[in-house]
Amino acid sequence: MIDPTCRILGTGHYAPERVVDNAELEKLVETSDDWITTRTGIKRRHIAADGEVTSDMAAAAGRRALEAAGLNAADIDMIIVGTITPDTPIPGCAVQVQQKIGAMDIPAFDIAAACAGFVYGMQIGQQFITSGAARCVLVIGVELLSRVLNWDDRTTCVLFGDGAGAVVLGPSDLEVDGDDGQRETGRAGILSCGIFTDGSLASALHIPAGGSASPLDAQKIGDRENKVHMVGNHVFRTAVKNLTSSSAQILKASGLTSAQLDWVVAHQANIRIIHQVANRLGFPLDKFVINIDEFGNTSSASIPIALDQAVRDGRIQKGQHVLMCALGAGISWGAALLRM
Ligand code: UT7
Repeated sequence: MIDPTCRILGTGHYAPERVVDNAELEKLVETSDDWITTRTGIKRRHIAADGEVTSDMAAAAGRRALEAAGLNAADIDMIIVGTITPDTPIPGCAVQVQQKIGAMDIPAFDIAAACAGFVYGMQIGQQFITSGAARCVLVIGVELLSRVLNWDDRTTCVLFGDGAGAVVLGPSDLEVDGDDGQRETGRAGILSCGIFTDGSLASALHIPAGGSASPLDAQKIGDRENKVHMVGNHVFRTAVKNLTSSSAQILKASGLTSAQLDWVVAHQANIRIIHQVANRLGFPLDKFVINIDEFGNTSSASIPIALDQAVRDGRIQKGQHVLMCALGAGISWGAALLRM
């Protein structure tokens, strides 16, 4: 049995107050509640208030995770933020989070792995804990995608939402035997984790302008080249294939069988992707934590938001096995299997 070295000490999330339902989007673009619901599973999404910035949401989620862990800012050795929508291009969002939560003089940096950013951050944090270089790492997935969407493009604007989720990682020094008392006793923690990228698919989901390849000018802004562009059905097919294969690979590496899995917290991009992955892996759908109806696709925030909801409402309990998997722009993807 794998003896984990790094576990989740606490979880937290933050969702902006404003909720935009599909009916509101019907007034913006040629779409319908029926199309959005049946093609994606999304009914509503949270949208940040004017003046609210990415690091505000990230800091709120981070504080809640610290509180759940019974720790405070002075205990953190490192902050990792998965985001592609930082407050400013320079410096990164983690820098602002550090300041807002008051955790000065520790490393704080961003991971730009889009929807897979949280899983990337978890594996990086795990490496620092396992090596002994850190004892407490705050990993946050946060996205304020509403500011980088083309609100005239019905193929993207109906899909995404804003929000933040966080975990505090620390050493696996806790033995758990599950609330039902039936489980094999073992240390809580990350049993296996893998992250992957296929750069040949970079243009399937991207923001074309605003970087060194295409500096912004008035023409490009007018053409909305500074907004999200996606070849949806291409990303869809890749998501089903890669989420299935990476989940199977991580499950095998953990030494567990699918029957020993209690929960799957998959990236919430499209309910049909989740259905197809469940079907291909042979996992019952009722093992999946699903909140896409309420949040839409919040990119790197989607897994930690769903995880925190399921921990707080008691679905996910100590000793249970949880599989996470995410895929997004890059194409980058990843999966992790944890004993809680
Ligand atoms: O988180 C990062 C990873 N992202 C994903 O995993 C997203 C993956 N992709 C998807 O979820 C789906 O591909 C979409 C939801 C984006 C699109 O669904 P689809 O079933 O693949 O639709 P499609 O792109 O093949 O388009 C089908 C039709 C098109 O009309 P025509 O050309 O057949 O007349 C679209 O123009 O649906 C139309 N359409 C819409 N109609 C009403 C596209 N968006 C909308 C809309 N409302 N919002």
